[in-house]
Amino acid sequence: MKHEVIEKNIGLMIFLIILTISGGFLVEVVPLFFIDETNEPVEGLEPLSAVELEGRDIYIREGCHVCHTQQIRPFRAETERYGHYSVAGEFVYDRPFLWGSKRTGPDLARVGGRYSDAWQRQHLYDPRSVVPESNMPAFPWLFTDKVDHTKTADKLKTLQTLGVPYTDEQIANASEELEGTFEIDALVAYLQQLGTVISEKR
Ligand code: HEC
Repeated sequence: MKHEVIEKNIGLMIFLIILTISGGFLVEVVPLFFIDETNEPVEGLEPLSAVELEGRDIYIREGCHVCHTQQIRPFRAETERYGHYSVAGEFVYDRPFLWGSKRTGPDLARVGGRYSDAWQRQHLYDPRSVVPESNMPAFPWLFTDKVDHTKTADKLKTLQTLGVPYTDEQIANASEELEGTFEIDALVAYLQQLGTVISEKR
């Protein structure tokens, strides 16, 4: 059998695996670099404000993305529950992407505006006080720790270098804007804008 030749020759096997994967990459991934729809921001998309950007970093630091995806797939079961499916143009300013791959909790791609700020705060302070069956951890320290804004301007600047359209004025004001902000305020500001650029909601 021809297949036996491949199975018994690890070098050949490795070569063929690389060949197959490269072929798949060329056909599936490379064209995406050249399709405008996947590179252009959707209409109305704004870069995150300094406060929202720091909120995003808190989201990453606390590992929220480990339990929550930010990616609604184009299936009925998902769009009925979470709203309009995610489109590439919503994520062009996201570095790194937080699409995630595991849903211990619900998808958060369009959670912005779904609950009040007060609900979000209460839920993060003590999830079981609003959702009794929840197994989400509590994050009480966000209410006492202030946002570290010593690097905010640098973060905006780095993103500007990478093509996110921040103005020099936004960069200059970034750290001042965050003076005295508690981490919870930044995180909730970040959550409340998630997915709102596409208005069709569930
Ligand atoms: C160990 C897994 C886990 C982690 C880590 C986690 N969550 Fe959750 N989250 C859940 C689960 C489970 C639910 C559903 C029950 C509930 O609403 O509390 C949930 C629900 C939510 C909801 C409500 C979503 C909806 O549509 O009802 C929000 C908002 C949320 N989480 C935000 C966060 C944020 C922000 C963080 C990080 C600070 C975080 N979560 C970390 C598991 C997690």
